[in-house]
This record gives sequence, structure tokens and C-alpha cells, in this order.
Amino acid sequence: MFGLVLLVGVTMLFVTGLLSYAAYNPDLDRVNDETPDKGLLGFYLFAWPTHPYWLYRLTQGVHVTLGVVLIPVLLAKLWSVIPKLFDWPPVRSPARALERLSLLLLVGGAIFEFVTGILDIQLYYVFPGSFYPLHFYGAWVFIAAFVVHVALRLGRMTGALRSRSTRTELRTDLSHTRPEPPDPDGLVAVTPSAPTMTRRGALGLVGAGSLALLAVTVGQSVDGGLRPTALLAPHNRNPGSGPNGFQINKTAAAVGVSSADVGPNWRLMVRGGGREVVLTRAQLLDLPQHASALPIACVEGWSTDDQQWSGVRLADLAALVGVPNAANVLVESVQRGGSFRSAALADNQIRDPRSLFALRVNGADLSLDHGYPARIIVPANPGVHNTKWVRQLTFGA
Ligand code: HEM
Repeated sequence: MFGLVLLVGVTMLFVTGLLSYAAYNPDLDRVNDETPDKGLLGFYLFAWPTHPYWLYRLTQGVHVTLGVVLIPVLLAKLWSVIPKLFDWPPVRSPARALERLSLLLLVGGAIFEFVTGILDIQLYYVFPGSFYPLHFYGAWVFIAAFVVHVALRLGRMTGALRSRSTRTELRTDLSHTRPEPPDPDGLVAVTPSAPTMTRRGALGLVGAGSLALLAVTVGQSVDGGLRPTALLAPHNRNPGSGPNGFQINKTAAAVGVSSADVGPNWRLMVRGGGREVVLTRAQLLDLPQHASALPIACVEGWSTDDQQWSGVRLADLAALVGVPNAANVLVESVQRGGSFRSAALADNQIRDPRSLFALRVNGADLSLDHGYPARIIVPANPGVHNTKWVRQLTFGA
């Protein structure tokens, strides 16, 4: 049962994880991703779409929530095979050494991916260097060992599930609970003690653990009135009220952006096609304004409901410097320290009429923490690429 849940769950984690990486458009520019030698493992990368606009909110919400919810299942699965984890001596023959190595990669890979993921969503950055290459390479090691394990064990799993009726098993009380029949791998004890728990109890305990984690996590990704229920979320569960009262990842103070950086002297420099245009905020407000209803969806899994943004279309700014069919744009922030000070966006993101250089949100000026004087907002874009406090846009032909 635990194997079956992990088979479905880990596959979904892997797919949504690969999508999360693709969402950065890591091939577009070094500022988007510095993972060394990802070449081979990045074979599947594609231009991240802007439709549907909630795509990243969904894929990353599923990735993070599922990762949290599967923790009790993973622990229970390891518990169910404990004797195999401590088999000694580990090396009796070359075949046996190979088997132990593949289990080391499987169990080690699983623990590594879950632990690094949890540390990251808890904002506890204790990694040597960046989290992304570690979690990315770890995922490939884990999934390779996982595929081998599933190929070797799928028959045993389906055989075990077919060997008894789940309904009957769920109705069996402790006095009628019998040990597993002996298995060729010797995982079942030769002379088992009397059971202390039914199979129903074991499944129920793990299921209840997973449901409890779901209940205190999912509110950060569905937002609405549920955000206060996200008890494990490290971000403020009450982001305030008013037009700017929605979730913030990093405040201006946290990344050293002061009101002097974005005061009356702030200017936007737009470059491209050999031209440069410098605009004040008032001049930007004089350009045609457009509205878009879009969420902020963070790589750490939380997201907001749709917010009503308004500002200048990115496509209009590209046209202003004579690159109407821009292939990419490099967005740079006034932010000096920390990561994600700049991000590159692709042509489909610039062309989308909902992609804005946003000046206002929900009918008010952006607050400093939401990126005043101006920020990027692009449909289905990871939050960190919706750069705040923008000072320069460089459109590439
Ligand atoms: C996070 C993922 C997983 C981990 C860490 C894990 C770990 C292990 C370990 C350490 C063993 C004992 C060594 C062995 O017999 O190979 C084992 C056995 C087994 N696993 Fe997994 N496993 C995972 C996922 C799965 C999945 C998805 C399936 C479904 C096909 C599965 C089915 C089995 C079966 C049938 C056994 C043999 C149990 C027995 O001998 O009676 N496992 N697993």
C-alpha cells in the first residue's frame, strides 16, 4: 500500500519538480540559472507558457503540498522494510554490493530530496551554495534508483495487493490479524510476535498523519480565507488588509531597498535596438495603462488569489525602443544584495498582453514591499521572476 502511494506520489513530485525548473527558463540567460553542466539533464527544457495564467500556481502548489503530505508515507515505508536497511555485512558478493548501492541511492536520495525541500520551504538556507542545483541533481539520482526499484518490485507489490481483499483487511480486528506469509527476501520475521496493531490501524495512522499535514499546509496555496490555517508556513499568515494586503516573500528592508533608492529620483531605463529611453513614474503613468488579474505564485509553494494589476504592457515598452518583436528582456532591480536581483523573460512572456510593467495593484499604488515604484507581473511566471523595484529593462532583438 505504501509502495503504491509512493509510486503515484513520487512520480507526480518528479514531474512537477521538472516543470518547476522549466518555469525558470533556465536556458534563456545565466541570470536565470547558474546550475553547472545541466546540459544533459536539461534535455527536456521548453519555453515556459503563459497559459493558463494559474499554471505555476498549480504545479508548484502540488509539488510542495504533496512533498509535505508524503512524509508520513515515506517514513512508514522505511519502517516497513527496516530489517533490510540494516542488513549486515553489506558486501558478500559483487551482485549484493550492487544491490546495496542501489538501495543507498534510493533511501539516501529520498531522504535528501525530502529534507532539502522541507528546509527550503521553511526558509532555512543551510545549503552549501544554492538550493537549486542540489535539489535538481539529487532528484535525478533519486529517480534513477526509484525506477530500478520499481522495475524490480512492481510484480511483488501487485501480487501482494491482489493476494487479499483490501475491504476485508480494513475490517479485520487485532485478534484476527495474522502476520505476512514468509517471503523469499526474508523481510518477514521467522517467528513473529503477536501483532500489536491491525493493518487498518497502521494505514489509518499514516493516513491521519498525511491528512493532518495537508490540513495545516494547503491553505498557503489556495489562499482565500484558508491562509490562516497554514500553520506550518513560515511566511506571515496575515499579510494585512487593503489593496496591498497580500503575501510578500521578501520585504524591501530584508533586501536593503530603501525609500532613497525608489524616491523622486527613481527612473526607469529602457534599452534595446540601439536606443535608450529614460522614464519617470509620471511618464510611465501617462503611457496607455492596461489591467491584468494575476496571482503571485512562489517557488516555495505559497500563492495568492488573483490581484488586479495595472500598468504598461511589456510589449509596448519593447516597441518604444524599436524592438516590437523582442526575443527576450533582461529585467534588473535596484536591489543590490541577495539573489534574484534580475531575471530574463522570453518572447512569449513579453508578447502576452497580460504581461505588465505594473505600477498599481487593486486600485492603489504598489506598496514599497510589493515593488514600488514598479514591478514585473507575467502570467504563470514563478514569483521570483516577477522582479520588484525595477530600474532597467534591456530588450534583445
Ligand atoms: C521513496 C521511495 C521508496 C523507498 C525509499 C523504498 C525503500 C525500500 C527498501 C529500502 C526496501 C527493502 C529492500 C528491498 O527489498 O529492495 C524496499 C522494498 C520493497 N519496496 Fe520499496 N521503496 C520506495 C518506493 C517503492 C515503490 C514506489 C514501490 C512500488 C512498486 C515499492 C515496492 C517495494 C516492495 C514490493 C518491496 C519488497 C518488500 C518485500 O520484500 O516484501 N517501493 N523498499
